[in-house]
Order: sequence, then C-alpha cells, then structure tokens
Amino acid sequence: MNNLVEVARLSDIRPGQMLRVVHGGHAYLLANVDGEILAADDTCTHEDAPLSIGALHGDCVTCSLHGAIFNLRSGAPVEEPATEPLQTYAVELRDGTICIALPDAG
Ligand code: FES
Repeated sequence: MNNLVEVARLSDIRPGQMLRVVHGGHAYLLANVDGEILAADDTCTHEDAPLSIGALHGDCVTCSLHGAIFNLRSGAPVEEPATEPLQTYAVELRDGTICIALPDAG
C-alpha cells in the first residue's frame, strides 16, 4: 500500500527547476520536467550530497559534489561515481498540489 502525501504546490516549481521538500524527516527531490513532476530521494547514493543543489538536464540530475548523474524516471545512475540507484516515487497532482506516493510505514 502507498500513502499519498502532499508535499508542495505545482506553482512552487517552474519547468526546468528542482525543489527539496522534507516530510517526516526525509528529504525528497521534486523536479519539473516540461510541466511533468518527477520525485525521488534528494540524497545522492554516492556520498549523501543533496541533489537539489545540482543541475537538472531534461529528466536527469547531476550531483554537484562529484558529478554522478541519475535518471529521475528510473532512479538509475547513468554516470559514475554513483552506482546505487536512487529511490523514485510516483507523483499525483490534485488541484495544483503535488502529492507523492510513499510506502506505508506500517
Ligand atoms: S555525493 Fe553525489 S556524486 Fe558524490
């Protein structure tokens, strides 16, 4: 089961921009890719840098610390040094509010 959580307004992120949101002490990355919102963990799987301060190119994000690149649709690392995938999350828009589907805690 998934738990839909409201994390931001669609108007908070312009196309081509990213936003870090924290829910329950966990940091998530939201990216606006040509009007489509993608969500993933904000913490690089290499050495824990926040990806939201990196660079967004299409649906990929480049980590600002050592340059690893992740595909935000699949979470797959497409450029080293990161080798572990990034957790991604399904996104739902509800009346201009961005909701992400988190696994149920229980
Ligand atoms: S912390 Fe992201 S590439 Fe090293």
